Amino acid sequence: MKATPPHPRLSPPALVGPSRARVPAAHAEDIHQILISAPRIRRRVEEMAHAISEDYRGERLVIVALLNGTILFLADLIRHFEFPLRVDLIGVSSYRGGTSSGELEYTKRLKLDLKDHHVLIVDDILDTGKTLRAVTRELALQKPTSIRTCVLLDKPSGRSDSFQADYVGFQVPHLFVVGYGLDYDERYRNLPFVGVLQQHIYEPETPAHP
Ligand code: IMP
Ligand code: MG
Repeated sequence: MKATPPHPRLSPPALVGPSRARVPAAHAEDIHQILISAPRIRRRVEEMAHAISEDYRGERLVIVALLNGTILFLADLIRHFEFPLRVDLIGVSSYRGGTSSGELEYTKRLKLDLKDHHVLIVDDILDTGKTLRAVTRELALQKPTSIRTCVLLDKPSGRSDSFQADYVGFQVPHLFVVGYGLDYDERYRNLPFVGVLQQHIYEPETPAHP
């Protein structure tokens, strides 16, 4: 078995801007704009799965996905893998607003033993980098053969340190995005696209005509 998988083969992520895709009428009240349409997500997830397959085929791979934001991404990614692998989930949420201590709260711990396995941590979006840095550090204690990270979205403007993910789907601008697993107040995870919220959703006090 190779000690570490080869350098990630994925092409660099595109920086996405507003898409021409129209927000479906059913969501127009809440969603201002589509950033990444469902077909574009599907194509990129397939590219990511292909690159990951090339890198890990024949290795002992454990995918560790972070709940809850990865539910759609994980399901779409792993169905392309045509080799044996294990999947486990961890629940982790960072304290935001309120305490803003940067500490992580684990709501579900890992069950699998990672020793002597390659580990690929999957998350929805890399923002400050605190979550993935802390999770990587914690999983490294189990002495896996290697650890890499894979995120659908990267928001480099949010980064508080130099953390980089190994496989990145898209780069997004400095905006709060929802859909395809990502939530605002546990809503919008089911949307098949990634979009930007209407301002009145997160600033309900804003008068319509100031
Ligand atoms: P980090 O520790 O700041 O990198 O936080 C990453 C986590 O914050 C993600 O897994 C998401 O749960 C959440 N997050 C960060 N930015 C967004 C966003 O734009 N929309 C939805 N969730 C976000
Ligand atoms: Mg998350």
